[in-house]
Amino acid sequence: MIVTASAPGKTILFGEHFVVYGEPAIVIAIDRDVKVTAERRDDSNLHISSNLGFSGTFIGERFETEEGDGSEKTLEPIKITAETLFQTLKKKCGLNITIKSNIPIAVGLGSSGALAVATVAAIGRLLGANLTREEIVKLSFESEKYVHLNPSGIDQTISTYGGVIVYSKSEGISHMKIESSIPIVIGNTRIQRNTGRLVDSVRIRKETFPQLMTQLTQTAGQLTREAISVLKKGDLKQLGELMDINQGLLVSAGVSSEELDRLINVAKKGGALGAKLTGAGGGGCIIALSKIGKRKEIAEAIRTAGGIPLIAEKTDEGVTTWTS
Ligand code: MEV
Repeated sequence: MIVTASAPGKTILFGEHFVVYGEPAIVIAIDRDVKVTAERRDDSNLHISSNLGFSGTFIGERFETEEGDGSEKTLEPIKITAETLFQTLKKKCGLNITIKSNIPIAVGLGSSGALAVATVAAIGRLLGANLTREEIVKLSFESEKYVHLNPSGIDQTISTYGGVIVYSKSEGISHMKIESSIPIVIGNTRIQRNTGRLVDSVRIRKETFPQLMTQLTQTAGQLTREAISVLKKGDLKQLGELMDINQGLLVSAGVSSEELDRLINVAKKGGALGAKLTGAGGGGCIIALSKIGKRKEIAEAIRTAGGIPLIAEKTDEGVTTWTS
């Protein structure tokens, strides 16, 4: 039997970084996904091939690279996930894993979270487990901790459930039913960055200026709560304004960059109602909220400024599996 699992990427509308400190964030699953195929092997090896330029085999603790410098480190999260499942389900076997992703990596669109979720779902079903969504979120956290050091859990949560959710560490998730479309354009600066390091830089700023940063974090929480009611009303103009304010807070937290600021400015000149970085910052992507019918112009403005535009749609589909 071959099991395939698909899990979507994400874009954070409000609240990144501050979510690590317990404040709520609003996150949308987007129509880009990672597909992971899992099948048993006769030996006990873990063979992984991908369309990301990394392939190789874990033979016990040894790794044989087939493709890509740094494959072992990049593919280690898959090994961690497989071992987590073997331990939890008290079953073990050799595996062939194939990864196909159309989510750009390391730019804040949740590629590693989606990969972790799809891997848990595919191996879990192959081993005969009927995992609940809650269990998938929990089991994919192990590899996310390896990749991001101190993640909030938001990425694997949205990849598991799909749709639009409000997430906080203490209160978990609540689903938002948004009937109207949220016309967004994502702009990729082409600069890859490390989420763990950026989260750590905010921690250091918090330690240096505890009172200021506590107030900033609380303001971010207040802003996300405001955004929830504006989103429910469907007032795009106010939503754009709140995105601009959120960007100001992220600049104050030290996670924006020249390239992000440039794409934000051109998106706004191109007709965006508001724009901000999305994800960890330091590079990666911006998200712009478009006036109705203006998405192509904004995408063109991003392209002209050297970024890669992506007109993404929200998807209600979370993780799914099928067999062949
Ligand atoms: C990364 O997608 C979002 C951050 O808030 C980190 C996290 O929540 O784990 C920057």
